[in-house]
Amino acid sequence: MRPTLDREFASFAAHCEGWRPRFGLVLGSGLGPLVDRFEVLDEVPYSNVGGMAASTVPGHAGRFVRVKIGSVETIVAQGRVHLYEGHSGRRATAHIRAMASLGVETVLLTNAAGAINRDFSLSWMAITDHLNLTGASPLTGSSRFCDMGEAYDPTLRALLLRVAREQEIVVSEGVYAGMSGPQYETPAEVRMLALLGADAVGMSTVLETIQARALWMRVIGLSLLTNWAAGLSDDILDHEDVMARGKAAVSQLERLLVALVGHLPK
Ligand code: HPA
Repeated sequence: MRPTLDREFASFAAHCEGWRPRFGLVLGSGLGPLVDRFEVLDEVPYSNVGGMAASTVPGHAGRFVRVKIGSVETIVAQGRVHLYEGHSGRRATAHIRAMASLGVETVLLTNAAGAINRDFSLSWMAITDHLNLTGASPLTGSSRFCDMGEAYDPTLRALLLRVAREQEIVVSEGVYAGMSGPQYETPAEVRMLALLGADAVGMSTVLETIQARALWMRVIGLSLLTNWAAGLSDDILDHEDVMARGKAAVSQLERLLVALVGHLPK
């Protein structure tokens, strides 16, 4: 049976009177400015939502924005909070439960990630599966034994890949390793992740996916490969560079989204 949400977000839903989002979008590092490309209908800072923490990370605005993408009403989580900011898995995924409380059934989770698979180019990667190496879960404290067999919806991923081809945007497919951070990986850790089957590594998304699947939401995961993971190039990893790569990719993401949302199942 489909799980029901508790009353955690009753006051948020009251705040969002009239919102009828069909689609949820979580924007990762540097991708926040995407919101300005769409017609903004409303916004609510996370600090106004009981149970939610404001992000302390540059590039993560910390608000819900209600936008129209084409004709589809969408709720955007502009910025997320992370485990490395000191939050529990449950708190770091409150935005997913908040979206579900408004009736959202499909979410696109974006993130910035380091590329591990040398066959990839530094473009986008559609997440096929993940390794949750954070040691945390948003479901801790419950006994919800959530199936994770097809956590990233294969039909929606195929749709994303099709629209990407049409738009001539390079999107690889691969496994995302979620680490707790905030330090970037060592080269030895990246070699370990490669052995484990990871194609990219980042510090978010996996807990959101678990939370979303526990609520029977459909998940699309999309990583922007902002850099080669540690040890695969001589570059020093730096959050400023990650954000700059994000900003530079915003117009590609806009094109992908407009095309994708137009084809979403009703
Ligand atoms: N590692 C972890 N997180 C990241 C990276 C990385 O190389 N790049 C962007 N986010």
